[in-house]
Amino acid sequence: MSTDGSASSTNGDGGARRRVLVTGAAGRIGRGFAAATSSRFDLRLTDLPEADLAAVSGFGEVRPCRLDDVDELPAVFEGVHTVIHLAGQPHPDTPWDKLLPDNIVATYNVFAAAERAGCRRVVFASSIHAVGGYPRERRIHPADPVNPGNLYGVSKCFGEAVARYAAEQGTLSAVVVRIGAFQPFEAATGPDSAWLSDIWVAPPDLFQVLLLAVETPDIQFAVVHATSANDVQRLDLEDTRRLLGYQPEYGWTATAGGATRMHQDGPSQLA
Ligand SMILES: NC(=O)c1ccc[n+]([C@@H]2O[C@H](COP(=O)([O-])OP(=O)(O)OC[C@H]3O[C@@H](n4cnc5c(N)ncnc54)[C@H](O)[C@@H]3O)[C@@H](O)[C@H]2O)c1
Repeated sequence: MSTDGSASSTNGDGGARRRVLVTGAAGRIGRGFAAATSSRFDLRLTDLPEADLAAVSGFGEVRPCRLDDVDELPAVFEGVHTVIHLAGQPHPDTPWDKLLPDNIVATYNVFAAAERAGCRRVVFASSIHAVGGYPRERRIHPADPVNPGNLYGVSKCFGEAVARYAAEQGTLSAVVVRIGAFQPFEAATGPDSAWLSDIWVAPPDLFQVLLLAVETPDIQFAVVHATSANDVQRLDLEDTRRLLGYQPEYGWTATAGGATRMHQDGPSQLA
């Protein structure tokens, strides 16, 4: 299946800029991704009505909606080529009563609405917490069984399962991106940054993975990891490099005692 190109006014493969729907667009990752890719994609940006979508209105068309309310979704998904599903509760200690609407029901609704609208692909923001039950020193490969260490991780396993189901039994392509710890460069420097040493993902590196997950053709279903080129890798990056051509520009190194930029003239597609 080719996912090359899409007319901005349709969701078929055309050749014009792809229309990309970003859920959770007013959140930390969504805001940065919108700013980094608005020149590349025809962005539609959605978040809760009470979220600060005005902050991203310069990067695309904004459409407030609750993703756990199915009635609102058809108009939001119409004409979309690829969905980047970031919306949800991002904290590992989130209680079940919040995970249920925002991470479980909303995620199911996103895949169902995307399929109904004829979208080509959903990129799902999963988390290292989907496999957080493994010992810290174990390197995790995408093919390892899920092993959540908390209920938030369980909610991400649900999203990964829906993604696979939608891709293998339905009409969508789906790319699951397991995100490490998304922190700015400054937070990953200095003596207090050691907790990030094996899980850090620098914002430009994550945006590169998400962009490649939108643009790489011929993927029916894949799980890829998104961390920077840290000395120690809890999440193995081989599949991300091989399938998507990911070339991280940053990394947490012992030599630098924290974050460093590995490739000053790196391959950034996000200028
Ligand atoms: N930040 C990280 O380090 C990290 C790591 C791993 C995975 N992730 C995942 O990446 C995604 C984005 O993370 P973030 O840090 O930007 O989180 P964030 O909380 O800053 O943004 C999430 C957005 O989702 C919106 N949202 C929540 N429930 C919704 C609903 N029912 N309908 C519509 N919108 C809803 C919120 O209003 C918020 O703006 C999340 O799914 C998170 O689990 C983040």
